[in-house]
Amino acid sequence: MTSNNRANFGSKLGVILASAGSAVGLGNIWRFPYETGEHGGAAFILIYLCCVLFMGIPIMSAEFLIGRRSRANTARAYQVLAPKTQWKWVGRMGVLCGFLILGYYSVVAGWTLEFIGEAATNSFAGKTAADFIASFNGFVGNPWRPLIWLVVFMMATHLIVVRGVEKGIEKASKIMMPMLFLLLILLAICSLTLPGSGAGIEFLFKPDFSKIDAGAFLAAMGQAFFSLSLGMGCLCTYASYFKNDTNLPKTALNVGIIDTSVAILAGIIIFPAAFAVGIQPDAGPSLLFITLPNVFQQAFGNIPFLAITLSIMFYVLLALAALTSTISLHEVVTAYLHEEFKMTRRKAAWIVTILCTLLGVISSFSLGIWKEYTIFGLTFFDAFDYVTAKLMMPIGGMLIAIFVGWYLDKKIVWEEISNQGSLKPAIFKLLVFLLKYFSPIAIGVIFINELGLLK
Ligand code: TRP
Repeated sequence: MTSNNRANFGSKLGVILASAGSAVGLGNIWRFPYETGEHGGAAFILIYLCCVLFMGIPIMSAEFLIGRRSRANTARAYQVLAPKTQWKWVGRMGVLCGFLILGYYSVVAGWTLEFIGEAATNSFAGKTAADFIASFNGFVGNPWRPLIWLVVFMMATHLIVVRGVEKGIEKASKIMMPMLFLLLILLAICSLTLPGSGAGIEFLFKPDFSKIDAGAFLAAMGQAFFSLSLGMGCLCTYASYFKNDTNLPKTALNVGIIDTSVAILAGIIIFPAAFAVGIQPDAGPSLLFITLPNVFQQAFGNIPFLAITLSIMFYVLLALAALTSTISLHEVVTAYLHEEFKMTRRKAAWIVTILCTLLGVISSFSLGIWKEYTIFGLTFFDAFDYVTAKLMMPIGGMLIAIFVGWYLDKKIVWEEISNQGSLKPAIFKLLVFLLKYFSPIAIGVIFINELGLLK
């Protein structure tokens, strides 16, 4: 596969927006708040920020490097850079991981569509926090309704992936990301002005380290990998479409900053509102979906027009943010099947769509009619989440760090990362240090700690 017959992103802004589009999604707005809520708030966020800065950004640069240097899908990339070695398994594990994530992520993405409908029909009006909880549980437990939205969402992803890189992915990201950001700022202001919101701010910004245990470290690290789309070759696949003059570490830093800002903003929206209306911060995956309608209801209840318009806008943008992420997950698996098994993109995309929808059905049922079937005490939905975010992605990230830090020729690393020599040598050294020593050791220690072997 040579570089000239592969597609490319059209512009620098397109590169950042597409990567940020992959990174920003339900991970920031849905998963970050509930993980933060379950692990005690501010102290968890501090650990999370360290993970983003010291592991996330270096590993993202490493993934960019692997993708652009090899100009191949993530499984092939290792065969190009490390021929006849077992490194190809890192890529293959990534493809599997992407497939598993898409299988439950698209279920939650489907929920956002249901909420667009609820917002449009003004069905938040006059409800209390308890009503929102009951109606959410009723919806998720219903066997069929979430499945319809799952299929709609998978088809939307499918169509964009089939249209190809530049036309589909890049265009879609350009308009939606800035709009989402503005709306989040507006909602954060609304949430902060709710009576009783102060306790939420304290929860978010006043660290209480007594709440930190081994699980919190693993959760913070997993969340960092999940939110930044790391450890499974997603950004590696995108980078294979980057131009040669794209500045890799700078792009990684920008994506990290955008992604983290969105997550923190989501926290500023969710927690003040949750405390204001008496929803427990550790409500788990339902947190976003039971808290947010309250914000619309309480802040704009007297002005139905505003309540309806803003809530529709929010759920549409959330669905679109999820869409740019599902596209990136779908693309990893599609590019792999297309290039490795010599099938057309269209056929490859159909296989991914159908199999992921089936996985989605299992995840969705496991929250309702299949609740009693569990693996190690987790429902299928939770098990897919645990295995990918807390096992496969950190292991993938560790191997990527080792691959670039130890295995790859330093000359290649310098050529790709230094952006024609414009990167300061000190920053290059720091990046290599973080990849070579810090990331693998830190990830290892967090795993060992979780297993309870450190005491
Ligand atoms: N990062 C996305 C989010 O926060 C989800 C996602 C897209 C992802 N691609 C990924 C997660 C690859 C892990 C790996 O919503």
